[in-house]
Amino acid sequence: MCGIVGYNGNEKAVDILLDGLSRLEYRGYDSAGIAIEKNKKIEVIKAKGKLLNLKDKLNKKNLDGTCGIGHTRWATHGEPNEINAHPHVSNDGTVTLVHNGIIENYQELIQKLEKHNYVFYSQTDTEVLANLIDYYYKKYKMGPIDAINRTMVRIRGSYAIAVMFKDYQDEIWVARKDSPMIIGKDKNGTYLASDVPAILKYTKNVYYIDNLECACLKKDDVTFYDLNGDKIEKELNEIKWDVSSAEKEGYEHFMIKEINEQPDVIKKTINSLIFDNKIKLENANLNEEDLKSFDNLYIVACGSAYHVGICAQYIFEDLARIPTRVEIASEFRYRKPILNKNTLVIIISQSGETADSLAALREAKNKGVKTLAIVNVVGSSIAREADYVLYTLAGPEIAVATTKAFSTQLIAIYVLATELAKINKKINNEYYNELINEIKNIPEKIQIILNTLTEKIQKFSSKFSNIHDAFYIGRGLDYAISLEGSLKLKEISYIHSEAYASGELKHGTISLIEDNTLVIGIATQEEIYEKTISNLVEVKSRGAYVIVITTEDKDVSKVANDTIIIPKTNKYFSPSLSVIPLQLIGYYITVSKGLDVDKPRNLAKSVTVE
Ligand code: F6R
Repeated sequence: MCGIVGYNGNEKAVDILLDGLSRLEYRGYDSAGIAIEKNKKIEVIKAKGKLLNLKDKLNKKNLDGTCGIGHTRWATHGEPNEINAHPHVSNDGTVTLVHNGIIENYQELIQKLEKHNYVFYSQTDTEVLANLIDYYYKKYKMGPIDAINRTMVRIRGSYAIAVMFKDYQDEIWVARKDSPMIIGKDKNGTYLASDVPAILKYTKNVYYIDNLECACLKKDDVTFYDLNGDKIEKELNEIKWDVSSAEKEGYEHFMIKEINEQPDVIKKTINSLIFDNKIKLENANLNEEDLKSFDNLYIVACGSAYHVGICAQYIFEDLARIPTRVEIASEFRYRKPILNKNTLVIIISQSGETADSLAALREAKNKGVKTLAIVNVVGSSIAREADYVLYTLAGPEIAVATTKAFSTQLIAIYVLATELAKINKKINNEYYNELINEIKNIPEKIQIILNTLTEKIQKFSSKFSNIHDAFYIGRGLDYAISLEGSLKLKEISYIHSEAYASGELKHGTISLIEDNTLVIGIATQEEIYEKTISNLVEVKSRGAYVIVITTEDKDVSKVANDTIIIPKTNKYFSPSLSVIPLQLIGYYITVSKGLDVDKPRNLAKSVTVE
């Protein structure tokens, strides 16, 4: 949560900072601020609310400094107002900083600093950092590295910080632990950001700074230091993402652009895992020997990625016959899960920075268990710390509600399950080939759905803009995808919605069904189709307005008020197709309510705090 940026170079910093912040707004958007060097002073400008408010304020100023830092906030400590907005400044203005993360022992540190006559103006945990760095800077008089390193040793929690010192106005100092940060470099200067899209327009060359390291960004170079203050060498990495992938390119919202990108990014992900009709997982460092050694799987993730995990549980167990358990990361880390040396813990994450998923990964590693990350962001913490990494190639996902990352994660699961089924001799060659062919058909089938259903869904969605509740039901994989459909609707439209395994409705929830309650039924699974339809008839006869998502060979006209027909595919891969209309329903209902689809209230794209 929160986004930070920085620039030190030959260009006007304010433009680059604002552009970067606009691309990071998905990480938080309740206030924003920047600090820029100006005539031997560091000027700080902040505003409550969206970035637009900050831009308005900045229009009235003439800031032509070429070195500065910026922040967009998702409030954790202290209400979203201008005082609590970043940057924060130490008592006499020596230190100015922006921070993403949480300082857990900030109260104790405030008390310590108050004894040294520091006073605090905000309710944030960040202000303490500015003053603590200032305290060590003045006490030991050994310069920025020493002050930052002493601060890192003294604080607990997670942070990515960018710091400007009044005495070193042509430098930006950064440090991190457990919160994301990348550092970029090109001929026009050096850059820092919480995430790649913020600087992709300027450079594709980035350094990854590790936990408890700090760095100094000058106009033309970056120097890295470890906790002892010794210099460390880093490699410059090239980001493969297209600049255009982080732009709206004529679409009204990132979410609809990303929905439409799915055939393409899924194809890319398939092409990185299947060569000449054979699955090859060498890119993930996974060989047959490794795969054979796992006799149970533990999938850990949050939100939509957890829903991929639920789909995966059905597929791994049914297709590959491997006992699989899926768990929400924030629960996993505080339980005492039973893992053994033959367990593979799979962490699924778009950002690769989700705090709970990262902690779960570390928990598993501490127990000596092998970990596989299915991750979208290259170089993210989860990708760097896992034993094996399977990258999804969704490209930058900007809309807060995930769509294309979700779909590429499903592909990674299908491929892994098919390979495990083959290695463990649960399927013959013929079926293996059939599965591979069908995985390769998925992008085309999604394209058919997008071409044939977008307009229909757009039209009928407006009639649901005033509803208060919706229920998504299905069985098996249809239930798993109901969970995702329900989340897609509620998180962006603020309509209350729930997903249920259809067979569970009669155990309580059916009492909520009354005239015109919206129920979306997903019925793609042949073996349980009739049972799902019976459940839909039950809700219909209690007054529900029923939308059925099913395949072309089924006639649901007797039960459905509206029908959404999707192409047929192998039963294991149906989530990839049924999720598309569900994404479109969530999107278009939200658009018809006039809400900000890409930046729903209270949410941030990357949840880097617990
Ligand atoms: C919902 C959504 C979230 C994320 C969750 C995990 O649309 O995007 O539920 O799936 O916050 O994030 P990652 O995948 O980055 O770990």
